[in-house]
Amino acid sequence: MTVTASAPGKLIILGEHAVVYGKPAIALAIDRRIRCTLSKASETTVNGKAFDEDKHPYLKYMLRSSEHPVRIETESGIPPGSGLGSSAALSTSFLRALNKLNGTDIDDGTLAKDAFDVEYTVQGGASPLDTSASTHGYGVALNAPEDAGRHLWDISINGRTWSVRDIAIPEMTLVVGYTGLHAATGPLVEKVRRYKDRNTFAADIVDEIGRTTTDGLDALRKGDLVKLGKLMTHDHKLLSILGVSCNELNKLVDASLRHSYGAKLTGAGGGGSMMALTDEPEKVCEAIALHGGKPFVVRTGEHGARLE
Ligand code: MEV
Repeated sequence: MTVTASAPGKLIILGEHAVVYGKPAIALAIDRRIRCTLSKASETTVNGKAFDEDKHPYLKYMLRSSEHPVRIETESGIPPGSGLGSSAALSTSFLRALNKLNGTDIDDGTLAKDAFDVEYTVQGGASPLDTSASTHGYGVALNAPEDAGRHLWDISINGRTWSVRDIAIPEMTLVVGYTGLHAATGPLVEKVRRYKDRNTFAADIVDEIGRTTTDGLDALRKGDLVKLGKLMTHDHKLLSILGVSCNELNKLVDASLRHSYGAKLTGAGGGGSMMALTDEPEKVCEAIALHGGKPFVVRTGEHGARLE
């Protein structure tokens, strides 16, 4: 028996890092997916090679309770460390396929919780934002007001609970600029945690990211792209103060702003990608390419983790 599942990457519109501390955040699934094909085998292999636990910490954790070895084939349209949710898409697609291989169909709420457990354990601290966006697809908001959208599930760990809602996304064009710099999420989350724990000023910035995201939810609901863009650019400044931007990201954000409603880094930062909200995608793509980034236009409305 062979099982295939795929899951999308994501863009964080507002609220990364602050969401780890229970602040609201907004993410969209994007039309870049990871696909996992699994079958029972006599030994575990990954893309034709013997399984190396050190190279694949996410797979190692997810295979811990597997009763039999698994032949794993992966195909990815999401560069690792790009800030576009590659680890969440790997976890959600892999777990959906592995459960099916073992004869179980899990619901989305269980999948989102199990995939978050993987991120939290392997990454060393995380929120359920990426894994919930990848599981559900479309648009999700964490810790948003009740009227923001339909409640999907709650996820708790160590005394903190995030409520996850489905949110309606207005028609909009987003351009991603990938710096080409791989940045691991765990150390960046840890950097912000240390800064925030030692410094009330940094804790104030985290609070302000939370308020900016709440305003962004309102702008999204009203379809006010001008306001949303301004909030995104403001959020980029706040994230820069927290120390998670870098020269390459700042260059791409600056270059995009001339032709955008707003622009910001997306994901953990430190490299990875930025995004711009625009009516002039060709001009933004040109500006990003001219400043050393790899641009692409993102299609939203993408479905979540699914068996194929
Ligand atoms: C990473 O895509 C988003 C962060 O907020 C970490 C997390 O929420 O797990 C930086």
